[in-house]
Amino acid sequence: MRTTVVTSGKGGVGKTNTSVNLAVCAAQAGSRVLLLDGDVGMGNADMILGIKPKADLSSLARPGVTVDDLIVRHESGLDLIAGGNGVESLLALEATGLERFLSEIAALDGRYDEVFVDTGAGIGHHVVRMLAVAERVFLVCTPDPTSIMDAYVTCKVHFSVPGAAPVWVIVNSAKSASEGEAVFRNLDTVCTKFLSRSLSLAGIVRFDERLRESVVKRCPVVLSAPNSDAARDFRAILPAIESGRPSKPRGGFADLLASAFGLRKAS
Ligand SMILES: Nc1ncnc2c1ncn2[C@@H]1O[C@H](COP(=O)(O)OP(=O)(O)OP(=O)(O)O)[C@@H](O)[C@H]1O
Ligand SMILES: [Mg+2]
Repeated sequence: MRTTVVTSGKGGVGKTNTSVNLAVCAAQAGSRVLLLDGDVGMGNADMILGIKPKADLSSLARPGVTVDDLIVRHESGLDLIAGGNGVESLLALEATGLERFLSEIAALDGRYDEVFVDTGAGIGHHVVRMLAVAERVFLVCTPDPTSIMDAYVTCKVHFSVPGAAPVWVIVNSAKSASEGEAVFRNLDTVCTKFLSRSLSLAGIVRFDERLRESVVKRCPVVLSAPNSDAARDFRAILPAIESGRPSKPRGGFADLLASAFGLRKAS
């Protein structure tokens, strides 16, 4: 069982959509997948998947409730543990103890091949503790300079822990492959220079209206619009990591020109 924690610095950059769509892709590829909504108290992975779980992390406060009782199956084949909305979930997790909860998840070893953990924005103590148990970190950022800065701060905190897992960057909402690559290079350069740690590029996901629509439809874009740019980009990420090649959107002629001449496509 491999644990991948999906994080960012800044909020609203696409962590939950990334976690959900990659978890669906892994399930479609035949892996046994658990998606854990670690955005405790503000979880919305269930909404994006279009499921209404009967239990979520707040249920842990009830006596006798175990992690098994929280698991709900999605039609794609993945299992979800919802994060819950409201302060009850946070209180439940505080009462149960994040470590006990994570060790119960670890005890599910053998039932799952992949565990994806979506996290809340920032570097709150829950997020830092989840990063510490990760075997692989997916760091989501956008071309927005504040997102890149916050991604760097997340790397700084993450790499300060001994034995910190490698970080794979996903540049989301990019206009083109070349814009996404430039964002990755900037972030990797500062991490290499100031933290002496290099990053890997997992992939670039283009800005795509169909993704927005998929959130409204409550059906992940890889299922609701499988031929859209965003769906293609998500689908390319996990195979690219496995094969050791960063995935790039297959851009059209404009993208080719842009990367050849360092130009940006007009938006
Ligand atoms: N590639 C994309 N193209 C177009 N819109 C996008 C893309 N990625 C994300 N969005 C928009 O950004 C919104 C926020 O995405 P998401 O909920 O995944 O972010 P988040 O990082 O999990 O946010 P939070 O920090 O609040 O948990 C989506 O509902 C969607 O409208
Ligand atoms: Mg989120």
